[in-house]
Amino acid sequence: MTATLPDPSALLADALRVRDALDRAGWSAEALDDLIGTTARTHLDRDELAPVLRRTRDGSPLSTLARLFVAGVPVEAAAAEAAGVPRSWLQRDGTAAIRLQAVVHGGVEATLPHDAGRAATGIHADQVLGVGAASLTLAAATPRRTVGRTLDLGTGCGIQALLAEDHADLVVATDRNPRAVAFTRLAAALGGVEVDVREGDLLEPVAGDAFDLVVSNPPFVVSPGARYTYRDSGLEGDEVCRRIVRELPGVLAPGGLAVLLVNWLHVEGEDGAGRVRSWLTDTGCDGWVVQRELAAPEDYVTAWLRDTDEGVRFDALYDEWLDWFERRRVEAIAFGVLAMRRRTTGVPSVVVDDVTQPVAATWGDEVLGHFARKDALEANPLDVAWRLRADVRLHQVASRDDDGWLVESSLLQQSAGLRWAGGTDEHGAALLAACDGSMPLRTLFALLAAGAGIEESEAVETGLPVVRRLVEQGFLVP
Ligand SMILES: C[S@@+](CC[C@H](N)C(=O)[O-])C[C@H]1O[C@@H](n2cnc3c(N)ncnc32)[C@H](O)[C@@H]1O
Repeated sequence: MTATLPDPSALLADALRVRDALDRAGWSAEALDDLIGTTARTHLDRDELAPVLRRTRDGSPLSTLARLFVAGVPVEAAAAEAAGVPRSWLQRDGTAAIRLQAVVHGGVEATLPHDAGRAATGIHADQVLGVGAASLTLAAATPRRTVGRTLDLGTGCGIQALLAEDHADLVVATDRNPRAVAFTRLAAALGGVEVDVREGDLLEPVAGDAFDLVVSNPPFVVSPGARYTYRDSGLEGDEVCRRIVRELPGVLAPGGLAVLLVNWLHVEGEDGAGRVRSWLTDTGCDGWVVQRELAAPEDYVTAWLRDTDEGVRFDALYDEWLDWFERRRVEAIAFGVLAMRRRTTGVPSVVVDDVTQPVAATWGDEVLGHFARKDALEANPLDVAWRLRADVRLHQVASRDDDGWLVESSLLQQSAGLRWAGGTDEHGAALLAACDGSMPLRTLFALLAAGAGIEESEAVETGLPVVRRLVEQGFLVP
C-alpha cells in the first residue's frame, strides 16, 4: 500500500489556473500522444521512465505538464511556474500530487484527475483509478443521443459523467468514496462543465430522483473480501450487481434507459443466463444482457490479482479466492453489459445474448436499436417495412465451373454495432436486398411466393422465423 493519499478537494480552489495552464500549453489527448509516442507510453506503463523523459526534455510547457501529470516525475520550480502550475498542486519534492489523464471518446475530450499508484508500486484501498478498459467498455456501450437527466453511479474519476455531460441537460454523479467525489468535482472544474456530484452508497444519494439515462461501472468484481473500494463492493458474490438492477427502476423515468457493467456467477447445476435474467424479472423493465466473456475461476482470479498490488501475495490469495469459488460451486464468472429500459405499457422482455465476436468501437446506438426492434417485432413484424442496415455487406465465395462462377457460400457481415455475421442462401439474400423500407414484409412475402410458385402462407411460415432472427441481430431495422 502506498503512503497517505493526497486530498483532491484541496486542489479545487486552483483548478481554473490549471485549466488555463493546460489550455495555453495545448494539452490534449492528441498532443500528448504526439509528444510521448506509443513506444515511450508502453515503457511508462512498465514504470520505465527514460523514454518519456527523453521525449519531454525541450522545456516547453507541454513537456513540463507531461512530466508532472503523466510521468509523475519532479520538475524544477521555475519550469512549473513557467508552465503556470500553481504551487498548491505541487508537493515539496517537485512532483504533482495527482495525475491527469487526457481521454478522447466519440469526439468528446476530457481531462481526468486521478491518484498515482500502480499495481507494481502499490494501490491504496481508497485509491481513485484513472480510465481503464472497463471504463471504456461502458463508454462504448452508452447511447449518445441527447437526454435530460443522467446519473453516473460509482463515478470514480468521473469519466462517464464527463462524457455524458456532452449530451445530457444535467448530470448527477455519485460515489461512496469521498475521494472519488472530490476527483469528479475537480474533473468538472478542469473541463469547465457542471456535474452535480454526491457522496453516498449506491442509489441512496438520488432517492426520489428520476433519470432518463443511468450509466454505471460498479465495483462488480466477485471477490472474497473488500480490499479496494473501486473493485470490491463488500457484498456477497454478485449481489452488488443484482441489487443495482433490482433498485434502478426506482430512479428510472418512464422510458428511461440504464446501461451498466455486470459480473454474474455460473453455479454448478444452475442456468447461468437464467441467473442474470432473473434479476430483471418483475422490474417493469425490458432487459438486454450482452455477455462478453465467460471466465473460468482460475483465469478470473489470476487476471484480478495481476491487476492490483495483490500480485505480490499471489500464491496465498489465489488459494483463498479459489477456495471461496469452490465452496460456492462456481464454475465460471460472466462479464457483460446489461441494458434496461423502463416500460410504460405492455409486458417486459429480457434477452441474453452471448457476444464473443469483436464489436464496433462504439455501439451505444445498438442499445436503442435493440429496444426499437423489439417494439416493432412485438407489434406485428408483417406490417413493418423493414430496411437492411446500411453497414451490412454480403460476402460470397464462388468457384468456377463449366457455366461460370458457382457461389459456394454467402456470408452476411455487419461492420457496425455488435458486428454479427451469419450465413444465408440465395432466397435470404434476395429478401434482404428487397428490404429497402418501402414495402411491408407481408407484401414482400406475397411477391416472393408468387415468384417461387408457392402459397403466401408457406413463404410466411418458413421466412418469418428467419426475418425475426435477422431483426433481433440488427441486420434488418424498422
Ligand atoms: C470500477 S470503479 C468505476 C469508476 C468510473 N465510473 C469508471 O467507469 O472508470 C467503481 C466505482 O464505484 C464506487 N463504489 C464502490 N462501492 C460503491 C457503493 N456502494 N456506492 C457507490 N459507489 C461505490 C467506487 O468508489 C468506484 O469509484
